[in-house]
Amino acid sequence: MKHSEIIEKLEREMIFFNRKDPMRIHHLIKVHRFAQLIGHMENLDNHTQFLVECAALVHDIGIRPSEEKYGKSNGKLQEQEGPAYARKMLEKLDFDEPDIERICYLVGHHHTYSNIDGIDYQILIESDFLVNFYEDSIEYDAIKNAYQKIFKTESGKTLCSACYFGN
Ligand SMILES: [Fe+2]
Repeated sequence: MKHSEIIEKLEREMIFFNRKDPMRIHHLIKVHRFAQLIGHMENLDNHTQFLVECAALVHDIGIRPSEEKYGKSNGKLQEQEGPAYARKMLEKLDFDEPDIERICYLVGHHHTYSNIDGIDYQILIESDFLVNFYEDSIEYDAIKNAYQKIFKTESGKTLCSACYFGN
């Protein structure tokens, strides 16, 4: 099966996982598209592009189970709960074990910015920020601060600047 077909299957699984929650569905679609675009702009190899896109689709999979189990969902709970659900979904879709491990690692660390150990991780974080700035109505100074501290790829910076700084 082509990468694009696997990615769309995963996207549909994630839409169903978040059924009756259009906000979360729109979130994952937007984060995926930014990740896809940044990956293409950064000329990732096919496999890294695939990992980035899959991680973007499933990155927030821990939110719903956290809410159901604990009645709340913060970054730590999402990182704690997410990987097991991501693994289950990826195994169902016959992903290779090393890919499952990397995607689950990214799900389990996507609120941790201290040790970003790969371009896939970096692009996931930047894509999530690009969407969250807008969805959470983040103020200009906080966006500027995150832009300076978190964003590393030229493509992510270009997109952030276009969205929020107008240049
Ligand atoms: Fe997110």
